[in-house]
Amino acid sequence: MSPDHLLQRSSNGLRVRISGTSHVVAHVTPLLPAQKLRQTKVLDSLNELSKLGAANVFTSALRPREQQFFADLGFTLHEELFLLAHNFETPIDFPTRPSRKFRHSDWGDLLKIDNSAFPQFWQFDGPALAEAISATPRTRIRIDAQDGPAGFAITGRSGRMGFLQRVAVDPHHQRIGIGRSLVADALQWSKRRFVRELLVNTQTNNSRALSLYESMGFIKKHGGLAVLQWSVAS
Ligand SMILES: CC(C)(COP(=O)(O)OP(=O)(O)OC[C@H]1O[C@@H](n2cnc3c(N)ncnc32)[C@H](O)[C@@H]1OP(=O)(O)O)[C@@H](O)C(=O)NCCC(=O)NCCS
Repeated sequence: MSPDHLLQRSSNGLRVRISGTSHVVAHVTPLLPAQKLRQTKVLDSLNELSKLGAANVFTSALRPREQQFFADLGFTLHEELFLLAHNFETPIDFPTRPSRKFRHSDWGDLLKIDNSAFPQFWQFDGPALAEAISATPRTRIRIDAQDGPAGFAITGRSGRMGFLQRVAVDPHHQRIGIGRSLVADALQWSKRRFVRELLVNTQTNNSRALSLYESMGFIKKHGGLAVLQWSVAS
C-alpha cells in the first residue's frame, strides 16, 4: 500500500496523517484523553505506520498527561511549546484592517503564505491545512483584504472553548499590523460566540508571536505543551 492510501484517517484513538513521498513522516493526534488511550492499540498504529515507510512519527502538541502516555511508548521530546490563553476578562482590541472570508480559490495562497512564514517543520501541506480547518465543529478563516492575500488566521470553537489554530503573515508584509488585526478579529468572533477561553500555542523561541499574543492579553498557562517524536529505529 502506498502512503497516499492512508493520507488521513482515524483509528485506535488516533487521527493519523502521512506526508512526504521519499521521506515519509507521520503525524498523530490523540482523539481521546490519555486515560482512555490503549498502549496496545497505539502500538498497532505505529507498526502499521512503519510498514507504510514512516521513518518518523510526530505527535500533535500534547498536554503533560498525554506526553507521559507517549513517553511510556518510547516517544522522545521533539519541541516544547508555550500554551497561552485569553479569558476575556480584559478589554480586547478591534481589527484595524479589513479582512474577508476564505474562498476555496484561496487554498493555494494560504499554503504559500503559511510556507513562507513558518520554519519547515511547522509548515502546512494540504492535509494539515484541512485538518486545522476541520479540527473543531465551528471554524472561522479570515484573510487580510487590504493588499491581496498577505495573511490569514484560522480560529476554531468547540462549545465555549476557542482555539487560535493558525496565524501567518507573508514575511514581505510583516510588522505593519496584519497579525494584530487578525488576532483581534479572532478574539472578537470568540467573544461574540461566548467563548470562555481562547487558547493558542507557539514555539518557545517564537518571540514575535509571543510578544504579539502577550500584548493582546493572552497569558501563559502552567504546564505547557510538547511535540514528541518516535523513530522507527527507537
Ligand atoms: C507572528 C506574526 C503572525 C506577526 O504578524 P505581523 O503582521 O508581523 O504582526 P504585527 O505587525 O501585527 O505586529 C504585532 C506585534 O507582534 C510583535 N512582533 C511582530 N513582529 C515582530 C518582530 N519582528 N520582532 C518583535 N516583535 C514583533 C510585536 O509585539 C508587534 O507589536 P508592535 O508592532 O506594536 O511592537 C508573523 O510574524 C508571522 O507570521 N510569523 C510566522 C508565523 C507565526 O509564528 N505564527 C504564529 C505562531 S503561533
